[in-house]
Amino acid sequence: MGGSSASAFKSAIGIILTALIGVPLFAYLAIKLATSGMSTDVTSSTMTKEAVAARLQPVAVVKIVDGGPPGSKSGKAVYESVCMSCHDAGLAGAPKFADAGAWAGRIGQGFETLVKHAIGGFNAMPAKGGAADLTDDEVKRAVAYMGNAAGAKFEEPKVAGAAAGGAIDPAVKGKEIYASVCMACHDSGVAGAPKFGDKAAWAPRLKDGVDSAIAIAVKGIGAMPAKGGYSGSDEEFKAAALYLINASK
Ligand code: HEC
Ligand code: HEC
Repeated sequence: MGGSSASAFKSAIGIILTALIGVPLFAYLAIKLATSGMSTDVTSSTMTKEAVAARLQPVAVVKIVDGGPPGSKSGKAVYESVCMSCHDAGLAGAPKFADAGAWAGRIGQGFETLVKHAIGGFNAMPAKGGAADLTDDEVKRAVAYMGNAAGAKFEEPKVAGAAAGGAIDPAVKGKEIYASVCMACHDSGVAGAPKFGDKAAWAPRLKDGVDSAIAIAVKGIGAMPAKGGYSGSDEEFKAAALYLINASK
């Protein structure tokens, strides 16, 4: 594709995106504006000081609640918040999500090349999909997520424990506690303990979510004593459990 047609292509995408996102947003805001003030009931629960204060929180705070601290988004989360806008429908020739045919040749270039194109941009594909605030690792995770959905076997770079918001990093402190306490049973499966890395043994225990499995383990279950006999804090036990579970799902 020549330079001038590429830039014409880019501005066409700009117009399409503006139409797709801007117009409904504008319509929504216009309706909000038109209907606001119609029923301002100061006694309503949405008008309490706390509720109003909550709505006046800076956007950045809300963003952290939604997406976790910077750099912690999973491939799926990045895909859904950024990449999907083009790759879901195949906008502007973007290879569609889970379309193995459209992706096969691209996957053949290898993970590193795809990542380079996704981070730096490639023809009508903008750098980082247009979301400059994504970290390189977040983009990598999204590429792995998208590639894998189309038949690749890429490994999604892990979200570091610290970036995931825990002050106690499962990969460091959790691993240490695991090695000193939990390993005694979970390494070889003593007394029916689900083994480290044994996905089949862990799957049924994780069906109600990781938090619920951890809550059970804090109290103890069957031959597993409360916190596996660990005498440290619940938070530290949780890091050890996360280390164990992350390796087993
Ligand atoms: C504005 C639309 C748009 C968005 C948003 C977008 N892409 Fe793309 N993407 C494209 C288009 C178009 C292509 C095909 C470019 C080509 O081959 O000429 C593409 C191609 C790709 C490729 C294949 C590159 C190659 O070497 O073949 C990858 C990987 C990719 N996108 C990843 C992503 C990721 C990850 C995100 C989100 C962070 C994203 N894209 C967001 C439009 C988009
Ligand atoms: C004395 C052996 C023993 C030790 C030590 C031990 N566990 Fe366990 N653990 C077990 C057994 C046995 C089970 C399965 C119990 C059952 O389902 O009856 C289990 C189950 C679990 C479960 C799954 C709970 C569920 O929802 O099914 C988690 C999570 C867990 N252990 C975490 C840990 C962590 C983290 C440590 C270290 C801090 C640890 N365990 C130390 C024996 C042990």
